[in-house]
Amino acid sequence: MSIFGSIDIETFMRDYWQKKPLLVRQAFPDFVSPIDQDELAGLALEEDVESRIVMEKGPKQPWQLLNGPFTEKTFAKLPPSHWTLLVQAVDQWVPEVASMLQDFEFIPHWRRDDIMISFAPEGGSVGPHYDNYDVFLIQAQGQRRWQTGQLCDSNTPRVEGTPLRIIADMQVEEEWVLEPGDMLYLPPRIAHNGVALNNCMTISVGFRAPSHADILQGFAAQASMDLLDEARYSDADLQPASNPGEIDAAALNRLKTVLNQYLHDDAKLLSWFGEFMTEPKYPELSAPLDEALEAEELDEALQQSEAVLVNESARFAYHRNANGITFFANGCEYALSGPAAELAMFLSDNLGIAADDLATFTDETSRKLLLELVNNNQLYMD
Ligand code: SIN
Ligand code: CO
Repeated sequence: MSIFGSIDIETFMRDYWQKKPLLVRQAFPDFVSPIDQDELAGLALEEDVESRIVMEKGPKQPWQLLNGPFTEKTFAKLPPSHWTLLVQAVDQWVPEVASMLQDFEFIPHWRRDDIMISFAPEGGSVGPHYDNYDVFLIQAQGQRRWQTGQLCDSNTPRVEGTPLRIIADMQVEEEWVLEPGDMLYLPPRIAHNGVALNNCMTISVGFRAPSHADILQGFAAQASMDLLDEARYSDADLQPASNPGEIDAAALNRLKTVLNQYLHDDAKLLSWFGEFMTEPKYPELSAPLDEALEAEELDEALQQSEAVLVNESARFAYHRNANGITFFANGCEYALSGPAAELAMFLSDNLGIAADDLATFTDETSRKLLLELVNNNQLYMD
């Protein structure tokens, strides 16, 4: 049995992922929420935590948005119904929430964004909207009525007078009431509206996908960084011009040749993509340690701990090549081979390593890598 019940993961990927919604009843049987509503509200009081409250009925405008951090007073003043508290990246604060990601290992780690959790009393909703990314919505507490509708895009009419992107005319196609443990998968751009029927918590496992604008701008910025001024458009094949005002097909082809030269440079593409996809969402959560450990101190610490864990806010990925791997850690790139490459692959694939397993990684490069990752606060010891 997979988290999709009788549907296996291969079938989910082939027929649903990025294609159509799927409701799974009891994806998580006997589900017990890894966080309760008071703990969630507590997180929203913290300076470093990103949180929002959406109030459908004002007080200043319909679909009003308040940005956290909040105070006890904010919560005391909220009406009894029709609002939602949303807390971003709860996986980075609550390890029990982070462990829910283990059920989504069939999607590459670097595609993940974060786990957002919402709490709403009766009537609470963020309004009919669409997102540009895939999301698994897991009902954690209470009941929520979800409706799904049409495929939207930037031209879909929106409700005016609110900072939220509320769809003006959602065309409801399907509707379900979700109970704790039920899960709704939504591909990007599907209109959806979830309304709490009673005190309700929803866990959203969200993914990242760079926009084409991000890809073009990001890659172009990085690829052009080390280019010399003399590398220019050239036309040694130019024929005498009979229409000197014309930009002809040959000129466009020369331009394509220039661009293709960079597009076919796999090393440059990988460098940008790996760095971009492993950029942490909240870099301050994996800021380097104030006091860096020395190699001997690391050895000692390793002997006393049971496991080495990947910081919940760190992002690792790698790409295999003829000599070993290119390893990416929070936007930094390392060329590794031999045992150090094995270690980096293990960390990227497993999010943690038992201290005993480290016995095999005693070579200098592996130890240097471990020390660097620990001092960068991307790894920590249990
Ligand atoms: C919610 O949890 O209320 C909203 C989640 C979403 O629609 O993306
Ligand atoms: Co949504």
